[in-house]
Amino acid sequence: MSIWKRKSITLLLSEADESEKGLKRTLSSRALVALGVGAIIGAGLFSLTGIAAAEHAGPAVTLSFVLAAVGCAFAGLCYAEFASMIPVAGSAYTYSYATMGEFMAWIIGWDLVLEYALGAATVGVSWSRYLLELFAKFGIHLPPELICSPWETLKLSDGTVIEGGIINLPAIFIVAMLSLILIRGTKESASMNNFLVVLKVTVVILFIVLGWQFIDVNNYTPYIPENTGVFGEFGLSGIAAGAGTVFFAFIGFDAVSTAAQEAKNPQKGMPIGILGSLVICTILYVLFAHVMTGLVPYTEFAGDAKPAATAFAKTGYDFLQTGLIIAILAGYTSVILVMLMGQSRVFYTMSKDGLLPSFFGDIHAKFRTPWKTNLFFMVFVSLFAGFVPVSDLGHMVSIGTLLAFVLVCIGILVMRKKMPEVPRAFKTPFVPFVPIAGVVVCVFLMYSLPGESWLRLFIWMALGVILYFVYGKKNSKINNE
Ligand code: ALA
Repeated sequence: MSIWKRKSITLLLSEADESEKGLKRTLSSRALVALGVGAIIGAGLFSLTGIAAAEHAGPAVTLSFVLAAVGCAFAGLCYAEFASMIPVAGSAYTYSYATMGEFMAWIIGWDLVLEYALGAATVGVSWSRYLLELFAKFGIHLPPELICSPWETLKLSDGTVIEGGIINLPAIFIVAMLSLILIRGTKESASMNNFLVVLKVTVVILFIVLGWQFIDVNNYTPYIPENTGVFGEFGLSGIAAGAGTVFFAFIGFDAVSTAAQEAKNPQKGMPIGILGSLVICTILYVLFAHVMTGLVPYTEFAGDAKPAATAFAKTGYDFLQTGLIIAILAGYTSVILVMLMGQSRVFYTMSKDGLLPSFFGDIHAKFRTPWKTNLFFMVFVSLFAGFVPVSDLGHMVSIGTLLAFVLVCIGILVMRKKMPEVPRAFKTPFVPFVPIAGVVVCVFLMYSLPGESWLRLFIWMALGVILYFVYGKKNSKINNE
């Protein structure tokens, strides 16, 4: 029994093809791009852009977006090669199983829970914030103890401050609803996702086009505010720290790769889905941030959890505010949907490999979805969404995702050396530069995150290692053949 045993690519591909009872191949390239955009545009853009501008980069938050995009592009190019070569559900987990062996695969699969499950919880909490805003517009006010988690301070738009509630019920509601839709079927979920994506991209474009005419160019001077003497507070280091913050806005493009087994033509569709969604979002983000910091002096975004609404109020189209909030809610919904879907596909695959109990691999007889995993994560994610403060969640998601990106970039280097002959429909250009640059940028972004997130990452991963030796190693299929 070796913890470094690798799964052969031939075996992976035959497993994906073999089962009539497996996941259905229903997703076109266009649906895959929509899946990516669906997972990407969300709380990062609509909530964090203002914070990054006010605290770190000023109007140069546009450059922070570019820097974060560069890191993601390096990782995205590596993901695309893997996904076109091993188009099997499970994403980074599956790739590491083929390249770095079982133990590393387990580590990465366990780490992905931080990205997908906690990512869904984080956006669920932001969703509940905008829902309260919408309700307030119609004079509806929910009991304070049911809209705020115990260790959180929540400032409502009417100025009321809630110092810790009991539970965040709206966040739990959205997680539960979407988990049930996912159980119903991938195609149904993808159709709903397409609709939500169109809505949210439209609102981003409208914001850019309508807002552009109201830009006050004085707000761009100075474009890169002078550093205050503290690393990360404006100046060049501020742009870098801003990139660490807005990195969250890019999380999700890799979720496309979790659906590889449901893609109609995965060899072509995977790179298109991953890189296409990344390019579209980067362009939209830079323009959006440019308009936002042009409408309002960046200092006014300090402590503002709804900067998009604040900036939009400066345009002559204030009456569209309610529509904007509804579209933002729809946008967040699709992020949560894709994150929950990605999570269930990773656990499904890990269970098929014997690293997790078979419970997680059961496919529903009628809907052909891993419904028990969906139910499990409905409860797991709800607990986090209902009871944990949003900032703690957000940093955990970023650090966990960056770790996964680093491992995928290293995986490309390993695979080029160990399996040069295996055909790839897409090849990462400029190897080894691209994967090495990916590692450097992602480690740098990890470094810019708070110390507590490092500690939590360490505890979570240590728990994972214990579980592997107690359960996974003994039950692993390839180790017991
Ligand atoms: N990128 C996703 C968001 O910003 C996670 O909501």
